[in-house]
Amino acid sequence: MEKFARGREQGRGRGEGEGEREGEEESDLLKGKILANLFYEPSTRTRLSFETAMKRLGGEVLNLYSTETSSVAKGENLADTIRTVSGYCDAIVLRHPREGASRMAASLASVPVINAGDGAGQHPTQTLLDLYTLKKEGLLENLRIALVGDLKYGRTVHSLAYALALYGATLFFVSPEALRMPEEVKMDLQAAGAAEAEAAGAAEAEAAGAAGAGAGAGAEVFETSDLSAVVKEVDVLYVTRIQKERFPDPAEYRKVAGAYRVTRGLLKENEDLVIMHPLPRVDEIDAAVDGTKNARYFKQAFYGVPVRMAVLSTLLGAGGERRREGEEKQGASKNARGNRRNSGVGEEAPRTLRERTADDRE
Ligand code: NCD
Repeated sequence: MEKFARGREQGRGRGEGEGEREGEEESDLLKGKILANLFYEPSTRTRLSFETAMKRLGGEVLNLYSTETSSVAKGENLADTIRTVSGYCDAIVLRHPREGASRMAASLASVPVINAGDGAGQHPTQTLLDLYTLKKEGLLENLRIALVGDLKYGRTVHSLAYALALYGATLFFVSPEALRMPEEVKMDLQAAGAAEAEAAGAAEAEAAGAAGAGAGAGAEVFETSDLSAVVKEVDVLYVTRIQKERFPDPAEYRKVAGAYRVTRGLLKENEDLVIMHPLPRVDEIDAAVDGTKNARYFKQAFYGVPVRMAVLSTLLGAGGERRREGEEKQGASKNARGNRRNSGVGEEAPRTLRERTADDRE
């Protein structure tokens, strides 16, 4: 069977190229599978694109997106909800205000848990679609990119910085002083670079870096508050919203609100600049930029569908089927849910780059 048999011809002009219909293909790969979307924080793109992805693959979706209408309002804790919902579905997508919530959920759930944002922590599937967007633009190798805005509370930039380091990108962290990239993330990036150098031998690592040889070359990082100073230095501006809801003191938010604004005027400094944003935006990109050749953020948001289709089919699709068939041959229970529970998919909690680097050194 063709993995993603093409469905309707749609041509809604989402992609630029002729015949670009990824994310619109339909398949029955996940027929009979159920995804539970558990969203304890607001979401538009992440939740809806997971839902679209699952439905395009023939699966079904349960949604908990209003904590007001679920037992969360009665005081149920996350652990009990996860244990319960695990029995109703084949995978869980979790967005939660607490850092580490998905890791905790993965340790309790009997089905795979996908982190769709844990407080100011991480947002790994956003990073996958960001990387996909960069790859589509042919920018992933030798990339010079500025991550702009709220680098302290913005989870998308944390995950993205880790991933870009694996491609040897040059990173410019542009933020107000109070919203700098957390030290922990910067240390992880340094540690990853050092581990690479150690593993590859200093000379080879240098050659790889000089050639921009991509994966594993580590990241060169610069930090500044001055956006105009980096505009000519980079290929991509990855702009982010100041995360108002995460400030303990509203007065502190007011001090940094509106710190950066990307305008058409700014683009005159570098006409080829690609502008990305995980969205939603507040006022950090002027609406007049939307119609320019530089803007990629709506296309980027659209890529959430094919990328999440890939994530779901990897977790629940053909590979999982093969694994289960193997288990059945070995006389394992024919109960699909029981087999899935034994499959081990998603049982390992995600580790930080630092943890991985440390383990890999052992
Ligand atoms: C981001 C998030 O939720 O972290 N949005 C998204 O998933 N596309 C960014 C944000 O809220 O600013």
